[in-house]
Amino acid sequence: GAPISADISTLEAGQRLVLEWRGQPIWIVRRTEEILQALPTLKDQLRDPLSTEAPDQQPEYVMEGEPQFRSIKPEISVLVGLCTHLGCSPEMKAEIRPEPFDPNWKGGYFCPCHKSKFDMSGRVYQGVPAPINLLVPPHHYESDTTIVIG
Ligand code: FES
Repeated sequence: GAPISADISTLEAGQRLVLEWRGQPIWIVRRTEEILQALPTLKDQLRDPLSTEAPDQQPEYVMEGEPQFRSIKPEISVLVGLCTHLGCSPEMKAEIRPEPFDPNWKGGYFCPCHKSKFDMSGRVYQGVPAPINLLVPPHHYESDTTIVIG
């Protein structure tokens, strides 16, 4: 499919824009400062915190900054919204500690099919069925507020 572009000028912190590209859901999320601070603290709970085990799950250019963010700009995360287990679409639970859901939750994605958990960079937690981190699709910024996917 052809590339698609998205205007993120009105995307607020904690919000997600959902698009479709090549028949797949694409999530663009503006992460909060609280989420960005939580991400580097999660590495001991994640299966592949530096995304080195499945290097094809993200373009190389998103790993040039802070690898735990898996993004070009720290605050903007772009992911394919399909679980790497059997392809369900995980739910976004962006708030930190949304009690009573989970007092230890640091924000992320929860797959209802078989309970896989991912952080707000799409990194998979240990001990869940999903084997690898969520896919970051190819993308770039056409301007400060326009992202092109594809
Ligand atoms: Fe997501 Fe199985 S499809 S946990």
